Amino acid sequence: MMSVMDRDSILGALAQQLESDRFLGVREVPFVLPAAPTIAAPEGSSDAAGALARLDDGQVKSCRKCALCEARTNTVFGSGSATARLAFVGEAPGFHEDQQGVPFVGKAGDLLTKMIVAMRLSRDDVYICNVLKCRPPNNRDPGADEVAACSEYLFEQLSIVQPEVIVALGAPAARTLLQTSTSIGRLRGKFHDFFVSGSSTRGNATPLMPTYHPAYLLRSPEEKSKAWADLQMVMKRLGLGG
Ligand code: URA
Ligand code: SF4
Repeated sequence: MMSVMDRDSILGALAQQLESDRFLGVREVPFVLPAAPTIAAPEGSSDAAGALARLDDGQVKSCRKCALCEARTNTVFGSGSATARLAFVGEAPGFHEDQQGVPFVGKAGDLLTKMIVAMRLSRDDVYICNVLKCRPPNNRDPGADEVAACSEYLFEQLSIVQPEVIVALGAPAARTLLQTSTSIGRLRGKFHDFFVSGSSTRGNATPLMPTYHPAYLLRSPEEKSKAWADLQMVMKRLGLGG
């Protein structure tokens, strides 16, 4: 007779397969999936949520360090768990993010949510933020001066959350965090050492996986399987199978 453990692990594996299929473009999933396990660390000893709120309310919301402050509707600080074991870093707010003040809520955000769910996690389990906190006009690429002005907040956020693993979505995030000009195609597929201090000589390294940005995957769905391979390496590193 099949034990409960066997049944649960089979159902878990099946759910995993269906969610990764869904991210990779399979449209019909014929039944409701069992709930995914949570990996958010329990809120407790650290007051990470308070420290993030102080950084956001005290500095970012009123920031005028670069010209992007002029046209913004809202700053977009970050969302998810302040004690998450996994953090995603994107590029900059787009139209919908600027309107709502929340990262990754437009089309690219929907795909990011699918990627997270394919990992059997939810957006509440992870931390999500961007290199820039204000929207560049017409979603143009971030300028070097804007990244220099804003990345101080990003480094501070990551040093508060202290995720075990970071996923950099797209070239601007990967290049900013790793201080390199290498292409995303060459960076992805392996872990790199990220130093929260921003220095390569101090502090403990956090494994960082660069992968394709979901907006790029919407334009080039044939690259999704590479992104999924990257995310499976992240799952393995977090002890989530994959
Ligand atoms: N693209 C990003 O890089 N970040 C967002 O928050 C939305 C779209
Ligand atoms: Fe400040 Fe960053 Fe917004 Fe520029 S993009 S105004 S540095 S919060």
